[in-house]
Amino acid sequence: MQDRLKKLIEAARSEISTASDAAKVEELRIRYLGKKGELSAILSGMGKLPPDQRRELGEAANSAKAEIEQLLMEAIERAELQKLQAELRGPKVDVTLPGRFQPPGRRHPVSRTLEEIVRTFRRLGFEVATGPEIELDYFNFEALNLPKDHPARDMQDTFYVDAPWVAPEQGSDENGVLLRTHTSPVQIRTMLSRRPPVRIVAPGRVYRRDSDLSHTPMFHQVEGLLVDRGVTMAELKGTLDAWAKAFFGSETKTRFRPSYFPFTEPSADLHITCFSCGGAGCRLCKMGGWIEAIGAGMVHPKVFEAVGYDPKQYTGFAFGMGVDRIALLKYRIEDLRLMFENDVRFLEQF
Ligand code: DAH
Repeated sequence: MQDRLKKLIEAARSEISTASDAAKVEELRIRYLGKKGELSAILSGMGKLPPDQRRELGEAANSAKAEIEQLLMEAIERAELQKLQAELRGPKVDVTLPGRFQPPGRRHPVSRTLEEIVRTFRRLGFEVATGPEIELDYFNFEALNLPKDHPARDMQDTFYVDAPWVAPEQGSDENGVLLRTHTSPVQIRTMLSRRPPVRIVAPGRVYRRDSDLSHTPMFHQVEGLLVDRGVTMAELKGTLDAWAKAFFGSETKTRFRPSYFPFTEPSADLHITCFSCGGAGCRLCKMGGWIEAIGAGMVHPKVFEAVGYDPKQYTGFAFGMGVDRIALLKYRIEDLRLMFENDVRFLEQF
């Protein structure tokens, strides 16, 4: 028995001293000190020995156990230290290599224009409202006084969405889901969700089946709506004039030209003096001196009826502008499609 114990300790010393990682050390702990380990095996045979030998062996076994525990502890510390040192050495870094250049991103010219338009309206007291790009026919057309057979629907070549979503309570039929063709449906959604006074601008993406030098299937608009008691067309003109001066510069002049929109009556197009030539005539304004910038008008009583506002109590004005066109003019870009090709050689120039 004593012999077995001696051999055990010797084997443990040599094995544990060469164990180089924590898993190996744990394996050895189980082998030597575990319940089914070698020391237990020796101790379990102790009962058959005479009492004096039993005590002697017990003492020897205890000191063997203590020594092995000590060896294991040292081995663990050694393994951890080695691991740490390996980590510290880590992957080699060559500090003399030049860094990798990360080109800084920048705002897209359309985003910048859109933010600037919205910012100038906020200064005039408008808050920002939004609506979904996948819209119901009802909000995009019907409630804006564009019934199914209305010829003005042809002005806006619509992308329809093949979706089973119907909302009969909103008067739409199974062809009722589309990509919004303008931001005007946000007017309807806003008025349905609150009472006057309302003073909002609604920026966002809109979609039409169009593609040429100055049209892309997706483009951006900012819609405006102000409703209160006693709002007049003079306030519409004053608001847009103040906005144009804030956005294009204080020397900018504006004028109204009669126009037509189903959701406004009367309707007008706001023209601004060309910010390139100041009105003298140049290539940008095609020599006319004026640029057509915003569609606008007084909210049609039928639109108020659709949202449950009393047209005898409230009046209001609305307007809508194409952001991309303004960005094209501002940055003197000739082809709108360039804006959405995401060619860095183009985008880098802004
Ligand atoms: N929704 C019109 C368009 O897409 C723009 C517009 C014109 C909006 C007049 C208005 C408005 O709110 O009053 O062409």
